[in-house]
Order: sequence, then C-alpha cells, then structure tokens
Amino acid sequence: MKKMTEKALYDAFAGESMAHLKYLIFSEIAEKSGLKNIARIFQAIAYAEFVHAKNHAQNLRIQSEKTEENIQSCIEGETYEVEEMYPAFNAIAQLQDEKGAQKSIHYALEAEKIHAEIYKKAKAEAEKGNDMEITEIYICPVCGYTHIGKPPDHCPVCGLTSDKFKKF
Ligand SMILES: [Fe+2]
Ligand SMILES: [Fe+2]
Repeated sequence: MKKMTEKALYDAFAGESMAHLKYLIFSEIAEKSGLKNIARIFQAIAYAEFVHAKNHAQNLRIQSEKTEENIQSCIEGETYEVEEMYPAFNAIAQLQDEKGAQKSIHYALEAEKIHAEIYKKAKAEAEKGNDMEITEIYICPVCGYTHIGKPPDHCPVCGLTSDKFKKF
C-alpha cells in the first residue's frame, strides 16, 4: 500500500476504534439514565464502527490468521505500555499534578502487567495448537484488574468487592 493511503487508513482505524469505545461509554450512561433505546442506538452504532475499524485493519494487515501471531502483537503492545508508555505518561501527570490522570494511569498500568503475562501463557498454548485450560475470567469494572479463576474478596488494585466484578 502507498504510504499516504496507509497513514490515512491507520488514522481512520484509530478514529473508528475511539468512536466504538466512546459510544459504548455513552451507552452505559444512557442505560443508567433509563434511556434504553438510546443506549441501544449507541451500542448498535458502536458495532458499526467496530466493523469499519475491522475492515481498515484488514487492509492494513494489522491482524494475522494465526492466533499465536496476534497474541505476539498483544504481548508487544502490553509490554510497551507497561515499560515505556504509562511510566512516561505518569511522569507527565506527576509533573503537572494531575491526580485523576495519575489514578487512571495507575489502574491501567497494573492491569497491563497482568495482561502481558496472560498473553504469554496464551501464546505458549496457541503455538502448540491448544486452547487455554481456564475457568472464569473476572474484570474489575472500576480499574480493569484482570483475574483468571476465583477472585480475591477485594480488588488488589482499587479495593472494590469482587462480587461486583464482571465475569467472562
Ligand atoms: Fe491491557
Ligand atoms: Fe479494581
């Protein structure tokens, strides 16, 4: 692909990805306000943006047909976030005394460490052609703390009681 088209398509992929997430966040808010149909509109259009992002990603060859290769890309992304991106972003937020940003960066950084480790285990299995042998996966809805199997009583990152965790 020619470089300008590639850059344009990558920007479109980033934009569609952000729109997807933004609409899901807006949908949660509408749902809490009892606006069920507007929440549904947000969810449906979020899905359309996901389809657009996926089509752009296909042209950009962001994904592989091999899951182990996709997982490797996740390991690289999560490791970059843990080792470089979030520590650097945290330094900026500390310098500028932005407490809210420091908190959301801390929450993300702690979860990304776990994600990188989970992906490493997943990759080892996928390379052998195996699925992972796991039970439930739990996510803390406040901080994104990620746990496979029976979770502790409280989130070790933010302290939320684990009966509020979202199960996958
Ligand atoms: Fe992550
Ligand atoms: Fe948490």
